[in-house]
Amino acid sequence: MTTKTAAITAVGGYVPEHVLTNAALEQMVDTNDEWITSRTGIKERRILKPTSLGTSFMAIAAARELVQKKNLDPAAIDLVIVSTATPDMPVSSTAAFVATEIGALNAFAYDLQGACSGFLYGMSAASAHISSGRYQKVLLIGADTMSSIIDYTDRSTCVIFGDGAGAVLFEPNDEDLGLQDEVLRVDGKGREFLKIEAGGSMLPASSDTVAAGKHFLHQEGRPVFKFAVSNMVDAIEQVLDQNNLTKNDIDYVVAHQANKRILDAIAKNLDLDYEQMLVNIERYGNTTAATLPLLLWDYESKLKKNQKLLFTAFGGGFTWGATYLTWAYNT
Ligand code: COA
Repeated sequence: MTTKTAAITAVGGYVPEHVLTNAALEQMVDTNDEWITSRTGIKERRILKPTSLGTSFMAIAAARELVQKKNLDPAAIDLVIVSTATPDMPVSSTAAFVATEIGALNAFAYDLQGACSGFLYGMSAASAHISSGRYQKVLLIGADTMSSIIDYTDRSTCVIFGDGAGAVLFEPNDEDLGLQDEVLRVDGKGREFLKIEAGGSMLPASSDTVAAGKHFLHQEGRPVFKFAVSNMVDAIEQVLDQNNLTKNDIDYVVAHQANKRILDAIAKNLDLDYEQMLVNIERYGNTTAATLPLLLWDYESKLKKNQKLLFTAFGGGFTWGATYLTWAYNT
């Protein structure tokens, strides 16, 4: 059996209709458009309403768009991976529900929890499944309903996050295009800086934990910012080095959209041209596992066959990495 590379062959996406602007946030917490724009680069984000629709609603919409665009028979999909930090329920696989709803009747499915690196880790899993030779079509979805875990009285987190979903199809490629290499890492000590304390096995949900707001996402922004920049830069440098590439060989950097200043710092540290960075944070905020596929969704028409893309992400855990992928099609 010859090992084949796994290439992205289609992209789909979905963002909810409801737009939460900086002006609307000014009415909710002590903040202002100038602070949010200058500190984060975010102008607006999308919010799933009602929340009870669940992350699967957006994942299904993104997957259906991909299936339609690609004219794909869902029964031909072998595997559905949903990368998410906000599954529909703590127990019962969101991916299983998504697979059934889209008609992927011959697939198996699982959720992958890598926080903001969930999609990057999912690319590794999808690619490995394809390269095993056992699977031909792997649907990878990054989807998060961050509004379901945000405290809308906490100005330091509520301005940053938004909801959305993006989907890509991975298939074997005969021209050696697709995922080429990756550097993926974790540092478990980082969990103190970015977490939801209650609702897991260590601190099951109770009326006390809810009263204390421990079911909401809590982060210490400054250390997270620092670790995010240095670790993403390190991972990118390593993956470039491993592949004898320089920054000039790279067409686009597809970086997790956490904060525009983080993107600026990555570009500065690596001496990248700003045109090399794909950016849409101003419209969606940080959608966690959905940021990378939503960039592909927005910029798909710009991407050309054989172009070299560098993906990078950083998230809770800590989790992070960088992945080198060559684009496999023209739209
Ligand atoms: N509006 C106005 N002021 C705000 C504010 C808001 N929405 N949020 C925080 N502030 C205030 C703080 O209270 C603080 O005031 P003080 O100096 O009087 O104490 C001041 O702004 C500076 O706070 P700080 O937290 O140091 O700001 P910052 O420049 O680090 O920006 C983040 C905050 C969260 C935007 C930034 O740290 C960040 O983006 N961190 C990384 C987040 C991230 O990537 N998370 C996801 C990981 S994938």
